[in-house]
Amino acid sequence: MNGSWLERGAALNGELVVTDDLEGAFAQEVISAFAQRPGEEFDIALSGGETARACYERLAVDGAQEIDWLAVNFFWGDECCVPPDHPDSNELLGRRALLERVGAANAVYPMRCDEGLDAYQLRLGELGQLDVVHLGLGADGHTAGLFPGSKALDADPGQLVTFSEDPNDRAKHPRLTLTYAGIARARLAIFTVAGESKRPAMEALVAGADLPAGRVRAGRVLWLVTPEAAPRGACRT
Ligand code: 6PG
Repeated sequence: MNGSWLERGAALNGELVVTDDLEGAFAQEVISAFAQRPGEEFDIALSGGETARACYERLAVDGAQEIDWLAVNFFWGDECCVPPDHPDSNELLGRRALLERVGAANAVYPMRCDEGLDAYQLRLGELGQLDVVHLGLGADGHTAGLFPGSKALDADPGQLVTFSEDPNDRAKHPRLTLTYAGIARARLAIFTVAGESKRPAMEALVAGADLPAGRVRAGRVLWLVTPEAAPRGACRT
């Protein structure tokens, strides 16, 4: 981990860590959350996107000896309404980049649009808290399936999962997504953000702009960000 950044008046909804080794920092955070888990099992919700893919491939390596994968329950934070073998499926991404590499799990709970909301809602309700929810950031400020202007942003606080569509048509598929209330069940929410295209959204977030990712709340919210994506003035230590 390369250090953290704080600025007077920064309105980011969590701790910001700027790091050259985003994937390694992500893996270490998950490994330490696993070590500190309050229960026997460990519940993690996976994300989609290319940044997430690289993070999972690294976690499979770095966590090989550190995590007892037989104690891990895998959830998803959002999913495109596509078949599970579709290239845009977050389930497929998680299976290829992580599950198939570690070869073990206690349970796997994919989000499936054709199964509707109730099964996931019930499962999360019973669970109470998730140990980790992994999130990405879109250049438009979306996270999971919470797009700017989407109805999902205003889901009832009792609703943990909802269907969502991007009203600006930037995202290709309708999705199932955790709501803010669903994400707030996380002891730790980890954003991973890479690439220059994300810098304007990061700068807007630290300036207090009301983008969907900025409304995320959880026990702890951690932003792991590459130098290219980091707001200007944020420094590595
Ligand atoms: C998805 C993700 C989405 C993603 C961001 C960032 O299903 O695509 O849940 O929110 O994390 O769009 O994606 P990149 O890391 O690929 O830029």
